Amino acid sequence: MTEHIYAHEHPESERRREGGFTLWFTGLSGAGKTTIAHLVGPELDRRGLVVEYLDGDTVRTRLSKGLGFSKEDRDTNIERIGWVASRLTRQGGAVIAAAISPYEETRQKARAMVEEWGAFVEVYIAASVEECARRDVKGLYEKAFRGEIKGFTGVDDPYEPPIDPELVLDTEAHEPEESAQLVVAKLEELGLVRSAVNA
Ligand code: ADX
Repeated sequence: MTEHIYAHEHPESERRREGGFTLWFTGLSGAGKTTIAHLVGPELDRRGLVVEYLDGDTVRTRLSKGLGFSKEDRDTNIERIGWVASRLTRQGGAVIAAAISPYEETRQKARAMVEEWGAFVEVYIAASVEECARRDVKGLYEKAFRGEIKGFTGVDDPYEPPIDPELVLDTEAHEPEESAQLVVAKLEELGLVRSAVNA
């Protein structure tokens, strides 16, 4: 176990535990962020990592309670998630953040905060608006198309796809289990987790 040894390049108050990283899932509502997060998490847990989830839907009932969906509020939400992710990354955690995070610039801010302490792995959970609307797990697209919800991402509010993500998952081509395996394989490739044979 080398992950949890303190790195000494920082003064005492700024020491970090090695091995921390944040997986940052971005994509439309209904693209599969939460589903894939909860398939990846147990795999990391099995490898002895300390896993924490920062899911938009959950964060919005706690840390971001009261925030809406204006650009300003979404940015505040994402900066909060980015900041907490950076603190947990500093402590050697494996953070899985899953929020729409529609703006490239704001995702870059989250990346910068996390990269002070560990790796940031941006994963674009891709699915077309048409496919998300067809799935319509929460029935929100139907409401958005009817105009009952205004400013819904992908319908009448912007979504900026990542410019240079570490990984793109086409959820129209892969089942969630396959997508989760691709995430773990990417983490292995990046040297952030050990392969299962050595786990
Ligand atoms: S973000 O834009 O700030 O990253 P976040 O991921 O936290 O969004 O929350 C998105 C969730 O809020 C959606 O999955 C959906 O359930 C709900 N929601 C309610 N109103 C909207 C809206 N106008 N646009 C997008 N999602 C919305």
